Amino acid sequence: MSQTSNAAASPASPVAPLTGRNVHAARRAQLMERIGENAAALVVAAPVRSRSNDTSYHYRPNSDLWYLTGFEEPEAVVLLLPGHPEHPFVMFVRARNREREIWDGWRVGVEGAKEHLGCDAAFPIGELEERLPKLFEGRTRLIYELGADEAMDRNVIRAVRKVQPLGRKGKRAPRVIEDPLLYLHEMRLVKTPGEIAALRRAVEVSALGHVRGIRCTRPGMREFELQAEIEYVFKKHGATAPGYESIVGSGPNACILHYVANRGRLRDGDLVLVDAGAEVGLYTGDITRTWPVSGSFSPEQREIYDLVLRAQREVIRLVRPGLAWHKLHECAVKILAEGMVDLGILEGPVDKAIEEKTYRKWYMHGTGHWLGIDVHDVGSYARDGEPGRALEPGMVFTVEPGLYFHGDEEGCPDRFRGIGVRIEDDVLVTETGVDVLSQGVPKEPEEIEQLVGADA
Ligand code: GLY
Ligand code: MN
Ligand code: MN
Repeated sequence: MSQTSNAAASPASPVAPLTGRNVHAARRAQLMERIGENAAALVVAAPVRSRSNDTSYHYRPNSDLWYLTGFEEPEAVVLLLPGHPEHPFVMFVRARNREREIWDGWRVGVEGAKEHLGCDAAFPIGELEERLPKLFEGRTRLIYELGADEAMDRNVIRAVRKVQPLGRKGKRAPRVIEDPLLYLHEMRLVKTPGEIAALRRAVEVSALGHVRGIRCTRPGMREFELQAEIEYVFKKHGATAPGYESIVGSGPNACILHYVANRGRLRDGDLVLVDAGAEVGLYTGDITRTWPVSGSFSPEQREIYDLVLRAQREVIRLVRPGLAWHKLHECAVKILAEGMVDLGILEGPVDKAIEEKTYRKWYMHGTGHWLGIDVHDVGSYARDGEPGRALEPGMVFTVEPGLYFHGDEEGCPDRFRGIGVRIEDDVLVTETGVDVLSQGVPKEPEEIEQLVGADA
């Protein structure tokens, strides 16, 4: 077969099973309420990306569009027009096409969009350019993510310019384009009970994959074999895909933050760092564990591991509603810097190491990020000029301190050279504190040592 299929949804289920029409309808209603009747919101499907000649990458819907509709086909646009008397919810979709459906799978089509997706009006995507200006009439603000899709940006700007002269005739036309951050992304940031259940499942499945990874580890194995074992478990338990490219870095590869080549061989005496998460119903887990290939930490590995674990535990202990986001990173930095001064890695005093940011040579990333439909989920981290926003119940994020002693980096004590450790859990802010969703994978060093190779 020389063509690949991108959207092989069955006719019976164009909407993903963990969602329901009511869920998406409620989200649209809430968004329309937030943006107000003088605004329009436009959300665009993700493009199909070519992988090699005549083949494409596995298709992943745009998260905003999916959140609002559950729709998983490419070449689609959602337009919300709050208060519109006939069609507050408009969709542009691919027309049905017998020839294309033989190759790529069933399409909802223009007629099916009303029935399956509940929109009030549906048009072929090919009519977008011609219809947009008229649809923008009467709206003074457009909520649209500029810069994500250049061809669409041109389309939108052309439509806005076409309709703007109406303003001179005293009619309403778009004057500003606003980022979805303040509206849609605020909604996505605080998870509903249904979303929390979905995330809990995604993280549970991610944890099962990690446990399998630890249990099947043996020296001599290739990093991609370990990756396959973990991802097999993800899929076996309902994941459609990993939520991001799995990182499986052994030995010095653990120090490469976005290492995804995964071609190295696991060697006796090395650590292996695995950062992998299962995407279940489009919500993803994001877990990292670091374990010794042979089943026992060396004294140096253990010193670094214990320090990272202490920082990770202390950060999690702080989590509760009202705490300012940036306090989490400050806590991790303080503990890691103190530990590195004690180990002779950083020059003291600790306050100076923090002020001068010398710790950044070995801890160069943030301590966490929002988690949800996107692994680095949407939503702001600070508001109103504050250094960090207050945590609220329903927020889900990662806690992932690490230390990375690149072998060729100057100033690295020899005994720590090549050691990389990260420990990452996924946590939910509750009414009273924190719920660690990824508890299914051990992180105590003795427990990990017991588990390594148990199924090898
Ligand atoms: N796996 C990506 C991250 O931890 O941020
Ligand atoms: Mn992460
Ligand atoms: Mn991660």
